[in-house]
Amino acid sequence: MDFKTEIAKRRTFGIISHPDAGKTTLTEKLLLFGGAIQEAGAVKNNKIKKTATSDFMEIERQRGISVATSVLAFIYKDKKINILDTPGHKDFAEDTFRTLTAVDSVIVVIDVAKGVEEQTKKLVEVCRMRNIPVIVFINKLDREGKDAFDLLDEVEQKLELKVTPLSFPIGMGYDFKGIYNRYEKNINLFRGDSKKNIEETVAFDNLENKELENLIGVKAAETLREDLELVNGVYPPFNKEDYLNGKQQPVFFGSALNNFGVRELLDCFIDIAPPPLAKKAEERIVMANEKEMTGFVFKIHANMDPKHRDRLAFVKVVSGTFERNKPYLHVRLDKKLKFSSPNAFFAEKKEIVDISYPGDIVGLHDTGNFKIGDTLTEGEKLNYKGIPSFSPEHFRYINNADPMKAKQLYKGIDQLMDEGVAQLFTLEMNGRKVIGTVGALQFEVIQYRLEHEYGAKCTYDNFPVHKACWVDPEDKKNIEFKEFLRVKQKFLAKDKNGQLVFLADSQFSLQMTQQKYPSVKLRFTSEFD
Ligand code: G4P
Repeated sequence: MDFKTEIAKRRTFGIISHPDAGKTTLTEKLLLFGGAIQEAGAVKNNKIKKTATSDFMEIERQRGISVATSVLAFIYKDKKINILDTPGHKDFAEDTFRTLTAVDSVIVVIDVAKGVEEQTKKLVEVCRMRNIPVIVFINKLDREGKDAFDLLDEVEQKLELKVTPLSFPIGMGYDFKGIYNRYEKNINLFRGDSKKNIEETVAFDNLENKELENLIGVKAAETLREDLELVNGVYPPFNKEDYLNGKQQPVFFGSALNNFGVRELLDCFIDIAPPPLAKKAEERIVMANEKEMTGFVFKIHANMDPKHRDRLAFVKVVSGTFERNKPYLHVRLDKKLKFSSPNAFFAEKKEIVDISYPGDIVGLHDTGNFKIGDTLTEGEKLNYKGIPSFSPEHFRYINNADPMKAKQLYKGIDQLMDEGVAQLFTLEMNGRKVIGTVGALQFEVIQYRLEHEYGAKCTYDNFPVHKACWVDPEDKKNIEFKEFLRVKQKFLAKDKNGQLVFLADSQFSLQMTQQKYPSVKLRFTSEFD
């Protein structure tokens, strides 16, 4: 198969949701359709990470929370689908943000009863900022939930999306009869006492047909006709261009658990979702069909095998083909590296692969060369953009609790930061190290991993910080800037890349600082335009 056909075949996407909306269940059902797993329950309830192959960190097993992000690939109707799984737990939100830099589109799962929840809002905001094409799946229609129109309104308002329903529910909960598929113009009936996995699809392009009454009953038929009239009047017709540009978001309704509405979602998805897209590097835009390989690291997994301290760097191939044993330039280190056993991912397995195409994710064994955001090329000095750090929410001093193990501690901290587990700040005044995380849980993860993987012990002390703000380095010569450096010395630190950071201890002090030193540019992400 030629290079362009391979690219056109690929769909690399992420499923995002608030925890418990049904992301794992939906992922499992998609894998079932792809024949990648044999039975429901194989990938269950976030226990997707509990199967041996995704079982990257012992701590995950202990906590039953998906700490890691993995890749699940399968073939469906001749398309190669790569699902980049994202951790549901909010403390690992930054992991998810980073994964969103490697997807070409996204499916958002929303619980019909709960509507739009906090975590979904934040994640969709990142998608909006990057114009990532989004499909919305409203899940758990077998349960009583919010009215479909109210939900569509809520999605539009809270997520600031412009939706158009491509399917519409017929009843809900106890009265759930099925779904009208506007995209394929048919009705999917949900029948049977148990309401489990029973599905019948009836082509139905003319809703005036009296057969509708026989299929779903007089009352439901009347409601459906009214509902669809309203849908047609209120929502714009589906426009693929708008969807691809992030200007319109199609919505599907269904029940992942009962495998209802999932095939319709998948069939539409492979039809409309984009193949690998061009990506912006600092230097230029790189097209997927360029001959030379380029790619970037969006995730690092540590210690897949606890006996060996190796790591797996996940590289998204952006252009060209990634080949085994071919030397590639690690741009940041200005060093050529060869990989004798690059991994590809299939369902829950990984295996060595000779060649990977744009859109694919390659897992590279790493002994400490990679950091998140690193670019690989065939020689061109190129740096992919778009993996900024956000201000952490929690900050603590980290102390060495075993003076004999200082070296192990610093190595451990260094490597965990490269993986993006947390952010490290070194105070300008006294060189003390401060760890910043998105959630409180990460402090425990770090402590546990330092001990079990590096044999080092640490303790923490509180360090009250409201927000970390990156300071624009261009201002260095200005007098006001010098004054700011002198007065705020106590609150200044360097991040891991040596960028200057102001650690504001309260919202008030942040405001005062901004007022007092208006020419000092403070940013809430590490990325400067
Ligand atoms: P997450 O990955 O987004 O966190 O959600 P997950 O798929 O784990 O689903 C959360 C809970 O919602 C699970 O129940 C799951 O069975 C249930 N669920 C998912 N889809 C549907 C649906 O379409 N209808 C209904 N009624 N429930 C659904 P649980 O009780 O937490 O776990 P389990 O004991 O069922 O595994």
